[in-house]
Amino acid sequence: TKGAAMVTAVASRVQAQRKQIDKVLALFQLTREQLVGVQDKMRTELENGLKRKTHPMATVKMLPTYVRGMPDGTEKGKFLALDLGGTNFRVLLVKIRSGRRSVRMYNKIFAIPLEIMQGTGEELFDHIVQCIADFLDYMGLKGAQLPLGFTFSFPCRQASIDKGTLIGWTKGFKATDCEGEDVVDMLREAIKRRNEFDLDIVAVVNDTVGTMMTCGYEDPNCEIGLIAGTGSNMCYMEEMRNIELVEGDEGKMCINTEWGGFGDNGCIDDIRTQYDKEVDEGSLNPGKQRYEKMTSGMYLGEIVRQILIDLTKHGLLFRGQISERLRTRGIFETKFLSQIESDRLALLQVRRILQQLGLDSTCEDSIVVKEVCGAVSRRAAQLCGAGLAAIVEKRREDQGLEHLRITVGVDGTLYKLHPHFSRILQETVKELAPKCDVTFILSEDGSGKGAALITAVAKRLQ
Ligand code: GLC
Repeated sequence: TKGAAMVTAVASRVQAQRKQIDKVLALFQLTREQLVGVQDKMRTELENGLKRKTHPMATVKMLPTYVRGMPDGTEKGKFLALDLGGTNFRVLLVKIRSGRRSVRMYNKIFAIPLEIMQGTGEELFDHIVQCIADFLDYMGLKGAQLPLGFTFSFPCRQASIDKGTLIGWTKGFKATDCEGEDVVDMLREAIKRRNEFDLDIVAVVNDTVGTMMTCGYEDPNCEIGLIAGTGSNMCYMEEMRNIELVEGDEGKMCINTEWGGFGDNGCIDDIRTQYDKEVDEGSLNPGKQRYEKMTSGMYLGEIVRQILIDLTKHGLLFRGQISERLRTRGIFETKFLSQIESDRLALLQVRRILQQLGLDSTCEDSIVVKEVCGAVSRRAAQLCGAGLAAIVEKRREDQGLEHLRITVGVDGTLYKLHPHFSRILQETVKELAPKCDVTFILSEDGSGKGAALITAVAKRLQ
């Protein structure tokens, strides 16, 4: 009976531990009411960003992009494109042929070392120009003066298509002396400093806008661009009459919402957990981009890591031992989360991934880790879906439609690589915006192709 008592004691300890774990996971399970609440608040913040009176204080900045229409298929020519702000920095040559709507691209990926991402603005732009020079050499294009589109995936205040003042860095960037400066000027000056070639910078483009444009090239119903990647953001076509910051009432203009800043006024603090707060406090921009920090690839792994640390502290994981690795920021990249959550993966393989990350786990540990990843990414997809539901409902109401059909062009590693994110996102939109029929199409390299298309349209209108 002594043995039996011990078994019972162990069983009840396991049960108690399970309860504790479930309690943590429950913090990430949002009810339908909570999601509707997020949708409603997003709607309010979107409207605030558009109105002249509320715009200065708005957390969702709703930035006019000066992109007024979709490509019509007559665009053609050779263009250079730069893509800064995603997973990689790239330089591209894009050849657009009219008529057949075909696009050919050549690109080169360059690393941006951390010390440059977080050094001075001059160093950053000198590095960019160095990469352009390499690319032009490589392609045998030095001397050719090609029009250039600059995909710069950070919040910029634009007064025209070829001007963009950086409002503030987001994600992993923190180069000095750039905020409040025109990034096109900074690029031009860096080109001048190098004094080796000249470029005709025609457009500065957010990645969401490039993505929408690329998909719009094939599907005219595409009036929304979504990025669920390193960062999280959305753009859409808005009626000019609703954009109080820009003169004129005719037609539409694309708005870069910068919805990553949603919640920076505390309006979703009721659903933020202690782990979200820890991730925020440990980031480069504390207090900023709170919604982005709950929904994008750069931060999901960090939320997971904070939870695992906490569970370990309470003796619920890794035999209560917090390893040096677990203390290391950024170990759970999107690709690992995606692997861990893949349904085809046996637990043994989850353990192997954890081992690769330097985490020694038991079989029970690996189950818990997988559950934690699932809870965090599921909430991310639902939050993102609630945001999207807000915009499609707004578009439906604004057009006075009983029913709206609309297409969303999507890009980003989280959306493309994660085994469940896209499905849960779509389910959430359906649930929260039942009168909208939303089609999702994957953009193929929106940042490169889209920048070239926008440049081509701008060139045509010049
Ligand atoms: C960040 C940037 C935004 C970009 C998004 C996706 O939220 O502020 O401009 O679109 O990341 O890359």
